[in-house]
Amino acid sequence: MKVRAIMGALCAAGLMFGTTASHAEDLTVLHWWTSGGEAKAVGVLKTDMQKQGYTWKDYAVAGGGGAAAMTALKTQVIAGNAPSAADIKGPLIQEWASQDVLVPIDAAAAGWSKDLPPEIDKIMKADGHYVAAPFSVHRVNWLYINKQLLDKVGGKAPTTWPEFFALADKFKAAGVQAVAAGGQPWQDMTLWEDVVLSQGAAFYKKALVDLDQKTLTSPQMAQVFDTTRKIESYMDNARTGRDWNLATAMVINGKAGMQFMGDWAKGEFSNANKKPGVDYVCAPTPGAGTGYTFNVDSFVFFKEKGQSAATAGQIALAKTIMSPEFQEQFSLYKGSIPVRLGVSMDKFDACAKKSYSDEQAAIKAHTYLPSLTHGMAQNDATAGAITDVVTHFMNSNEDTKSALEALAKAAQTK
Ligand code: GAL
Repeated sequence: MKVRAIMGALCAAGLMFGTTASHAEDLTVLHWWTSGGEAKAVGVLKTDMQKQGYTWKDYAVAGGGGAAAMTALKTQVIAGNAPSAADIKGPLIQEWASQDVLVPIDAAAAGWSKDLPPEIDKIMKADGHYVAAPFSVHRVNWLYINKQLLDKVGGKAPTTWPEFFALADKFKAAGVQAVAAGGQPWQDMTLWEDVVLSQGAAFYKKALVDLDQKTLTSPQMAQVFDTTRKIESYMDNARTGRDWNLATAMVINGKAGMQFMGDWAKGEFSNANKKPGVDYVCAPTPGAGTGYTFNVDSFVFFKEKGQSAATAGQIALAKTIMSPEFQEQFSLYKGSIPVRLGVSMDKFDACAKKSYSDEQAAIKAHTYLPSLTHGMAQNDATAGAITDVVTHFMNSNEDTKSALEALAKAAQTK
C-alpha cells in the first residue's frame, strides 16, 4: 500500500495524530536488524541512548531486506501509533516526507553537509530540511567464499563469470554445494543486480537508474537473465524461504562454497569470529570492475503527540547516529563502513578497508551506484514491480525473451 494511500486512510479515520501518549524519554525504534551481527550493531545504539537517559523500546520486525518491517510500519502509522524512528532509506524518505508525518532534525545536523558525501547528504533531506540520519554505507556487490574450501579445490577468487563458473564446477566436482542462497525476492534481486552490474556501470545506470527501455530489452540484458539462470543451477533446491544469514552460515560452516550478498553478511562472519583472508575471502562480484553498488541505512523520525517538531529524544538519537564514535562501532559490528567522512578506518578489517578504498575509487570513476534492491535507486512501486519480474523468472522456467518484455513493462510502473 503506497504511503499516500495510508495518509488518506489516516485523515479519513481522523487518526492522524492519535498516537498513544508516550513520554519524551521513550524511544520506539522500528527496524529489521535481528541476525547476529545486525543485533550487535543496533545494540550499540540502544546502549548509547540508554546511557543518555532514554528508554529504548525495540520494535524489531524480522525479515532480511525489510519488506515485513515496512508493512508493520505502515500498519502502525495507520493506527496512529507511529514509532519515534524507523529504518527508511533512499527515495522512500521523500515519499514519507511528502505525507507530512516526519519531523525535521536540523537541530541535530549542524555540519552534516560537510560530514557527508554530497550524493548521500541530498538523500537525507526533504524540502531543504534534514529528515533522516544515515548509519553507514553497505556495499551490495560482494561475493563471499569459504577459504578452506577454496584452497581445497585449488581455486582463486573469480573476477569474471567464466572464472566464477570454473570455480563453481570445482566445488561441484569436490561434492561441495557451490552457491548458498535464500529463495526470497530481495535475495533473488540482489544476485540479479550483481549480474546487471557486470555489464558495466554505465549499463547498470541506464537500466536500473534511468529505466531506459532500449537497455532493458537489449541483448546484454538477455545475457543477464541467462547468466542468472546459470548461477541458479549451482544453488540447492531447499533454498526457498531461507533467510540470508542462514545462507551465510552455510559458507561460514563450510557447508557451501560461496554467497552473493551485501556486506551485512560480513557482520555474520565477524560475529562468528571468522577472519578475512584466513576463514573467508571477500571479493567484488565477477565483472564488477570499479562498480560499487551502495546501500545507506538511515532513520527517519515521526511526528509524536501531534508535535510538528522533533522531541529531545529524537534529536539525541539523530546526533548519536551521526557521531564519529557510533559511526565506527556500529560498522565494526554491522559489516559496513562509516558514511560520515573522516572516521578512521584503523580498527577495520581488510574487507572493510577494501570497501572504503573501492568506494573512493568508484566515486572518482563515477561507478558509485545506488542499489535497486535495497531501496536506493527507485521508489517502492517501481522497485517492487521489477523484483516481481526477477523473482518470477528465478522461480519458474520462464524464458529470457518473456522476462525482458515483463521487465520493460515493470520499469514503467510509477
Ligand atoms: C538491507 C539493510 C541492511 C541489512 C539487510 C539484510 O536492506 O539495508 O542493513 O539489514 O537488509 O537484512
